[in-house]
Amino acid sequence: MFPAGAPARVLLLPGDGIGPEVTAAARAVLEVACPGIEYTERPVGLAALSSLGVPFEPDLIRVAKAHDAILFGAVGGPTHQERGSRRPEEALFALRRELELYANLRPIRVGTAPLAGSPLRPEYTAGVDLLLLRELAGGLYFGEKTLNSESASDLCAYSRHEIARVVRQAFALARKRRCRVASVDKANVMATGALWRSVVDELAAEHDDVEVEHLLVDNAAMQLLLRAASFDVVVTENLFGDILSDEVSLLVGGLGMVPSASFGDAPPALYEPAHGSAPDIAGRGLANPCAAILSAALLVRHTLGDDACATAIEQAVDAAVAAGIVTPDLGGAASTADVTSAVIARLDGLAATSIKSNSVDI
Ligand code: NAD
Ligand code: IPM
Ligand code: MN
Repeated sequence: MFPAGAPARVLLLPGDGIGPEVTAAARAVLEVACPGIEYTERPVGLAALSSLGVPFEPDLIRVAKAHDAILFGAVGGPTHQERGSRRPEEALFALRRELELYANLRPIRVGTAPLAGSPLRPEYTAGVDLLLLRELAGGLYFGEKTLNSESASDLCAYSRHEIARVVRQAFALARKRRCRVASVDKANVMATGALWRSVVDELAAEHDDVEVEHLLVDNAAMQLLLRAASFDVVVTENLFGDILSDEVSLLVGGLGMVPSASFGDAPPALYEPAHGSAPDIAGRGLANPCAAILSAALLVRHTLGDDACATAIEQAVDAAVAAGIVTPDLGGAASTADVTSAVIARLDGLAATSIKSNSVDI
């Protein structure tokens, strides 16, 4: 819970491609829902590479630690850069690693309204409310890498501590929800998978009120679409979580609808849409801002501690989608600005009381 009285400080890192477009939308919603937040903005990714020659400023981590939360857009461009040059994604890795943001929540919730633009039949999406919990600070992303013209390698390493801390979060989250944890690994092939599974089993013994299911990741990829509504908390390692989160985004209409929140043991938490910089649609007003707006709602809930206001933002997004005010990725013709205005309009109507009464706490 954010302490009452002090203004919240949010670090905005809009980044590249559609990052600035969707971050501006999220900020516009926050300005209405939670007036009084203090914002700082810094360049990251290609935006920083082109102006500063590096993917993030040397003092970014120090600056981040002076804020209560980070609202991140996206980094990256259409082409892969030459090996040896700096990559825009380094900004994200530095934040995740240095702030030890090991628990990445990606909620997949089907609203009450029929889904616009989902390629899946309604019987596969009805009642879905799952929380993908991705380990974010370890594994293959941060292991030693080698590359020459003849061979390449990526080390995937996990310590017991790194697995246990995120799995404990999965159990804690499940206890606040429907008391089910699905753990996804590749224990039949990977040593890290075998350790992962044994840690989950050990912790399961301490949480006998929580039902635990183990799935191999290839089967999980299928089951998550086949019987999505049966899942509650799904916990997995870094790379599998990355891949599965794009897959399950289809349950809610695609990447433009999936927010995320990344936590370490101390603030600041980082909030960002699960999607990337979408260079194919950048700069044309086509980006769906809902994932970024829903990420801002997670910031309001988890950093500001204002559940009523967060719920109001989520309901306003649901209402705009239900009214058919959606971008082309969901089959509509609305622009980023149209959707943002529609959410703000519904926020005023839906939540005037709760927002006004709660904003004094911020
Ligand atoms: P992407 O998520 O950027 O786009 C995948 C597809 O989804 C594209 O067709 C895109 O148009 C669409 N899409 C994504 N977000 C959308 C939105 N809000 N509204 C409408 N359509 C949307 O993934 P990619 O194309 O594989 O990657 C592009 C770049 O983004 C790469 O450089 C990658 O490294 C980077 N990336 C960054 C992040 C991040 O910063 N967190 C996440 C993923 C990818
Ligand atoms: C994500 C992204 C990143 C990841 C990329 C940009 C490195 O895909 O946050 O899902 O792989 O973690
Ligand atoms: Mn991803």
